Amino acid sequence: MISPQRVAIFASGSGSNAEALILKAKQNKIYAVVCLVCDQPQAAVIERAKNLKIPVEILEKNKAENKKEYEDRILKVMTQYGVQWVVLAGFMKILSQHFLGYFYDKILGQNKVINIHPSLLPLHRGLNGYEKSFTDDTEFAGCTVHFVDSGIDTGQTIDQKVMVKVKDEDFESFKARGLKNENDFYPEVVENLLRSFNG
Ligand code: GRF
Repeated sequence: MISPQRVAIFASGSGSNAEALILKAKQNKIYAVVCLVCDQPQAAVIERAKNLKIPVEILEKNKAENKKEYEDRILKVMTQYGVQWVVLAGFMKILSQHFLGYFYDKILGQNKVINIHPSLLPLHRGLNGYEKSFTDDTEFAGCTVHFVDSGIDTGQTIDQKVMVKVKDEDFESFKARGLKNENDFYPEVVENLLRSFNG
């Protein structure tokens, strides 16, 4: 009997990647999205997850609590859902070692926390990956799926997908193409990685 890996998706924004990840999980049952964590109560991702019948946990950081207290609150929710993997999909908060350590897997030698970044890392770490990729002087852009460590987009790369730049393309079209590239790629990579963990 296959037991799908239990995944929590963390997102703060529009949720195109979250939606693609949820749809893939429903199709193949290699992993199960047990909840969506969102730190922004107005984010469009909330509606998308609800429409797909995924439990949504809106966890905003309170001004009164420090980062550790906030992360402990999220970790408590992770325990309640029995989460084994955290998949970041446009989550705009940096997770500290305190949080990441909870998902550390000795055999894997990694935290079971994954992210997608909209550039070919190590190029263009941090914010505005699309803007930086668009204006650099290379012929290629793309995205990177990587393990998360306590640095900013410094964790080990799992896989990358290249996108060829098109001459005279404007930024909006470049970004839309890039996001579509991410939406196709991220669920495939997560599925391939998590497949080997199913008992
Ligand atoms: C994506 O470009 C992702 O690479 C970055 O944040 C964006 C999220 O987009 N980390 P969406 O909310 O999944 O549409």
